[in-house]
Amino acid sequence: MNLQGMTAIITGGASGIGLATAKNFIKNGAKVMIADLNHELGKKTAQLLGALFVQTDVTNEQDVKQMVQYTVEMFGKLDILVASAGIGGPGNIVDQSLDVWKKVNDVNYTGVFLCNKYAIKQMQKQGHGGSVINLASMFGLVATPSSVAYSASKGGVVNLTRAAGTSHAKENIRVNAVCPGVIETPLVPEEAQRLFKDRHPMGRLGQAYEVANVIQFLASDAASFVTGASIAVDGGYTAL
Ligand SMILES: NC(=O)c1ccc[n+]([C@@H]2O[C@H](COP(=O)([O-])OP(=O)(O)OC[C@H]3O[C@@H](n4cnc5c(N)ncnc54)[C@H](O)[C@@H]3O)[C@@H](O)[C@H]2O)c1
Repeated sequence: MNLQGMTAIITGGASGIGLATAKNFIKNGAKVMIADLNHELGKKTAQLLGALFVQTDVTNEQDVKQMVQYTVEMFGKLDILVASAGIGGPGNIVDQSLDVWKKVNDVNYTGVFLCNKYAIKQMQKQGHGGSVINLASMFGLVATPSSVAYSASKGGVVNLTRAAGTSHAKENIRVNAVCPGVIETPLVPEEAQRLFKDRHPMGRLGQAYEVANVIQFLASDAASFVTGASIAVDGGYTAL
């Protein structure tokens, strides 16, 4: 799972799963560009880790193009994209406002589409393959009725990953998703952490590094025959 000589963009890399992934990647030899909406936290985190930072709103096409361009300018190439930027948004189908629906799908779904699009274009240009890892969720595999927009956005990411993974398989550009259970990060309110803890067969919440380890596997040559897959990292939640 060595990443020596590889370069990576991690969207949402200032916090949670993206941050744990950035730490793992750097420890294992990769050069990392943290791309996050949060300028202050992103810059500080990048400085601490020895990464670079580019402020990016993944819903803005121009920002996403610049994110890829700047990475290639600074590192010379792009080998890995981890699309981890995401937001929550509670609400069942009748309570969900159109504004929240649009916002959640814009960041979690359209943002993943834009980042995949421009990262894969760059990888195609380079001609030596690449690896894309999208953050879906176990709630892209099974539903959470109390967060309908979130469930729908993550289900979209699972199928986008299948489509992108198969269309670029011959170019050795692998596109996979991870589907975490409930992970202890700033994204998940304390009440939800309490509610979901015992619903995982392992009887606990996941930690960001446990997701980052699977992302590292997918990013590395150890996963050379894996593409279009969505891998649950959920303490058994979706196996029940
Ligand atoms: N924590 C969980 O339980 C869990 C479970 C399943 C899936 N996920 C998914 O994993 C990913 C990371 O979640 P996390 O728990 O690390 O969350 P987090 O809140 O800790 O980190 C998310 C990061 O994304 C950034 N971000 C938000 N909107 C953005 C935008 N428009 N452009 C760029 N950056 C933006 C935030 O600034 C933040 O740094 C998300 O896609 C989330 O849906 C999380």
